[in-house]
Amino acid sequence: MDVADKYSGKLTLRVVLTCIMAASGGFIFGYDHGVSGGVTSMDSFLKLFFPSIYKMESHIAHSSNQYCKFNSQLLTLFTSSLYLSALVAGFGASHISRMLGRRVVMLIGGMCFVFGALINGLAIAMWMLIVGRILLGFGIGFTNSAVPIYLSEMAPYKYRGGLNICFQLSITIGIFVANLLNYFFAKILNGQGWRISLGLGAVPAVIFFIGSLCLPDSPSSLVERGHHEECKRQLVKIRGTTDIDAEFNDILAASEASHRVKHPWRTLFERKYRPQLIFAIFIPFFQQLTGVNVITFYAPILFRTIGFGSRASLMSAVIIGSFKPVSTIISIFIVDKFGRRTLFIEGGLQMLITQIVIAIAIAVAFRTRGDLGHIPIWYAIVIVGVICVYVCGFAWSWGPLGWLVPSEIFSLEIRPAAQSIAVGVNMISTFIIAQSFTAMLCHIKFGLFIFFGCFVGIMTTFIYVLLPETKGVPLEDMAVVWQRHPIWGKYLDKDNQKGNEKSEC
Ligand code: BGC
Repeated sequence: MDVADKYSGKLTLRVVLTCIMAASGGFIFGYDHGVSGGVTSMDSFLKLFFPSIYKMESHIAHSSNQYCKFNSQLLTLFTSSLYLSALVAGFGASHISRMLGRRVVMLIGGMCFVFGALINGLAIAMWMLIVGRILLGFGIGFTNSAVPIYLSEMAPYKYRGGLNICFQLSITIGIFVANLLNYFFAKILNGQGWRISLGLGAVPAVIFFIGSLCLPDSPSSLVERGHHEECKRQLVKIRGTTDIDAEFNDILAASEASHRVKHPWRTLFERKYRPQLIFAIFIPFFQQLTGVNVITFYAPILFRTIGFGSRASLMSAVIIGSFKPVSTIISIFIVDKFGRRTLFIEGGLQMLITQIVIAIAIAVAFRTRGDLGHIPIWYAIVIVGVICVYVCGFAWSWGPLGWLVPSEIFSLEIRPAAQSIAVGVNMISTFIIAQSFTAMLCHIKFGLFIFFGCFVGIMTTFIYVLLPETKGVPLEDMAVVWQRHPIWGKYLDKDNQKGNEKSEC
């Protein structure tokens, strides 16, 4: 039977609402992720927590090298500290996810978000700022480990791509809302607007926490923990049919295989999972090497560096941010039609071309010493426009697929462990880029875009050559796509031959 006709379930309203609720965890990630760029460009915030940077910033407005204006490791540590704690939490999450289910992990994540946002909003000392960021990082580690898997397991396989991408959609909306609020709060409450920007993160966190209390666990996780009847009941409800035996039996078989695995971490590193493991590592790594977060975190700083005024910088970040959700919605509708590979490759080419154009545009406008003052308005509009095209390329390809693909390529027994690796690599790469961006801008200037452009070229080739298409394949049948792939098929064949030789001996 063609895998495409395997199960008879439909896309029900219940599954859509459940997935939207779970995906809203991405909103908080996006919000916390997007809020710091604007907050760290607010004078009142800098004056209170980073007085030396504030002084430097005001004094060197006419310095000889504009690119180095914002080069401070302490400031970037504020932005990036949460990625390190997310990395740690991600690894803890995999164990809890396997033992207690995806929902419990989401609940823990939601709680960390609530406290982290409140502490940050009320911060009066540096340590509060850092503790808040660390808690938010824990929230991200837990949520990002559980939600993508949960979505992939809840969704009917034919719609898995679209439903999973709701997570990325929430991330982009979260970033957008954070940018918008930063813009409006920058000048209010005697300069205390940053408190509202940071503290408001608690609102979606409470909603996510309460929502997660009401969600059912995913069918695979229920079976894995022995709740067979509950899984059948859930399948009937979420698939809108009583004909769920085929799907249930496949999940049961996957779960029996899963129980034979006592050490998921060790198993994950076995040779037979090498192809998948390579993608769990390289997809999030490359996702960050697209350079998208240079725009996400530092758009306001970047724009100020190249000569925009402070309000114009925040506004440009808002305009650019609005392109992300729109493009992500497009990918929700096309990912299960055109497939993952097509989006990866098209998005990659689009980013590559625009990065080259941006680098040339900035280089031409500013001599490398960057001491030009203000650029003509039409030129600024062109640069912002090209950055928008770049952002769209990311937002319908590497953005959503960076979460979707790692969550769907692994078998049940190692799925949470593999997802922790994907989250960990994403976070550490985000950390490194956040930490090094201002120094890179200072030293390689517009070459920054060439640097990321080279990586985009490499990652697009990597996908073209090595990634099998996974659209329309049930999770339980995913092993087949690797066996059919021209390169991985040979690699796995060798493995099988070795296995056969051993058993003949
Ligand atoms: C990435 C983030 C990024 C966001 C932007 C996410 O998928 O993991 O690092 O900021 O997309 O859209």
